[in-house]
Amino acid sequence: MSALIEQEPLRSRKVGDIAAASSGAALLLSEFNLDLCSEDGMALEAAAQHAGADLAALEQALHRLDDAGPADSAPHETNELISHIVKRYHDTHRRELPGLLKLARKVEAIHPDHPQVPHGLADMLQKLLGEIEVHMKKEELILFPAMRLHPDGALDTPIAQMRHDHDDHDEQLREIEIRTGRFSAPASACGSWRALYSGLAKFARDFAEHMRLENDVLFPRFEQNPQDSIACDEPNPSSAASGEEIRPASPAAAPGAPAIEAHDDVASASPDPLTGASLVPMLVGGLVLIVLAMCVALALA
Ligand SMILES: [Fe+2]
Ligand SMILES: [Fe+2]
Repeated sequence: MSALIEQEPLRSRKVGDIAAASSGAALLLSEFNLDLCSEDGMALEAAAQHAGADLAALEQALHRLDDAGPADSAPHETNELISHIVKRYHDTHRRELPGLLKLARKVEAIHPDHPQVPHGLADMLQKLLGEIEVHMKKEELILFPAMRLHPDGALDTPIAQMRHDHDDHDEQLREIEIRTGRFSAPASACGSWRALYSGLAKFARDFAEHMRLENDVLFPRFEQNPQDSIACDEPNPSSAASGEEIRPASPAAAPGAPAIEAHDDVASASPDPLTGASLVPMLVGGLVLIVLAMCVALALA
């Protein structure tokens, strides 16, 4: 966010410029109900007033944005590392994913006939959101407390389950990347579409670093027989550090999209992001939590 802070006052800058400075900013503006399609040429103050948003709260949130830091910024000590993972990654995923889901619903509803619209993306995100929430709950309620209580404990079985979850999430993210043409919006895409893809790219970078910290740094401290890292642990030239896509090459969407017409706001088309399909993994996760708790108890017995 330094680019934003250096160019204060924020309230007099154009919404489109602020959104372009940071994918996190674009998502945040959307979360405050600013329409990135019709208000991107307005100053932040005027756009906030137009949207009925709290300008002071919005400016504060923009200044608080915390883009991913370098990999070596994570603390080494185990308890501090766990706290860092929860605050920097779990909390950030929870804050950003519902907004991305809402944007995906909006884009699919506004451009149903566009050849590059990512049909089905919202459903994919809703499934991923539910499963990641269950996974993070397992870590926060069972695995991380066990690590804090037993710093020399061997937790191979529950950690193997976590690694399996990571593999599943990684596969889902690859499918989302393919569906979105590696998060490449058409040149004439509306602001919501661009905010969606830049937000997804940021989430993918955050998630890759989140998995790397757990798989490569935290988990091996509690494994007697450490497993091989999953694919997303491998250094990737197009990773977060470059600010571009995090995955190896995959089929991209067809380039050269036609211009996109202006559209009306369809915020009402956005359902509650934590209902429907996400309930299924939540229920399944509850059962998994019980099994996992038994594994931890046995491992520490
Ligand atoms: Fe985690
Ligand atoms: Fe995890």
